[in-house]
Amino acid sequence: MLELKSLTKCFGANMAVDNVSFHIDRPMMIGIIGASGAGKSTLLRMMNRLTPATSGAVRFEGQDVLALRGAGMRKWQSECAMIFQQFNLVPRMDVVSNVLHGTLNRRSTVASLFNLYPQSDIHRAIDILDRLGIAGHASKRAEALSGGQQQRVAIARGLMQDPKIILADEPIASLDPMNAQVVMEALRRIHDEDGRTVIANLHTLDTARRYCDRVIGMRAGRVVFDGSPEQLTTGAARDIYGADAGFSESATSTSIDALERPDRAPIPA
Ligand SMILES: Nc1ncnc2c1ncn2[C@@H]1O[C@H](COP(=O)(O)OP(=O)(O)OP(=O)(O)O)[C@@H](O)[C@H]1O
Ligand SMILES: [Mg+2]
Repeated sequence: MLELKSLTKCFGANMAVDNVSFHIDRPMMIGIIGASGAGKSTLLRMMNRLTPATSGAVRFEGQDVLALRGAGMRKWQSECAMIFQQFNLVPRMDVVSNVLHGTLNRRSTVASLFNLYPQSDIHRAIDILDRLGIAGHASKRAEALSGGQQQRVAIARGLMQDPKIILADEPIASLDPMNAQVVMEALRRIHDEDGRTVIANLHTLDTARRYCDRVIGMRAGRVVFDGSPEQLTTGAARDIYGADAGFSESATSTSIDALERPDRAPIPA
């Protein structure tokens, strides 16, 4: 379905992403973890064609994604929706108009300029908001919503594109634990119910283990772990984050502790 082959990105002498290869043969929910600067965002941005790759290949259902130009590239970008940590909504615009922006790729310039949306798109936007539990806020300005609600608006905008893949770059990094849970559950449900692949950069092990089917660990641009949440042992986590680096961050250190908690030990017979 989706295959990355020796994908590489250099910023000058800095190899941000170094020969990354993996393939996804069925829709799944994948968490990408790694310390700051490991290359997680750059990897997602290359997949979505926001950043040009230095070398390597991305193939999706037989097509060479990195060779796409013009309309082909725009079609790809609408097939793989991107969600960002900072939501990237238009703050002063109402929620439903923000969601309708997800259809920009396929509307004429004149229709876009005058904010002319077909009724069917408006109904679909409301249905998607309803599914995410925020239809009641449709007419409010985006900036009036909480962070968790705004991120769900951003997910709704992505869903308007009817994407096959959702790429989420630290979707919960700016949210409190309660909102983080609501947003992760929304992404998981979108995967479970629609069969869309979700690839999310995550900054805590807990989240990756709890919501994902597969975890990819990056360190200094390379994939150093690729396995199930169960295989993500303390040792594997230390390889990903470095033996002594990064554990001062409370979230990650809590997660490392969680891996070692006795309640994860096998239940005695
Ligand atoms: N536009 C850029 N120009 C130059 N260097 C860049 C650029 N973007 C990223 N880098 C470098 O590439 C490397 C990987 O950065 P990237 O943002 O992909 O890491 P990350 O894993 O997403 O980190 P974080 O967890 O902090 O978001 C870093 O060394 C970073 O400084
Ligand atoms: Mg990043």
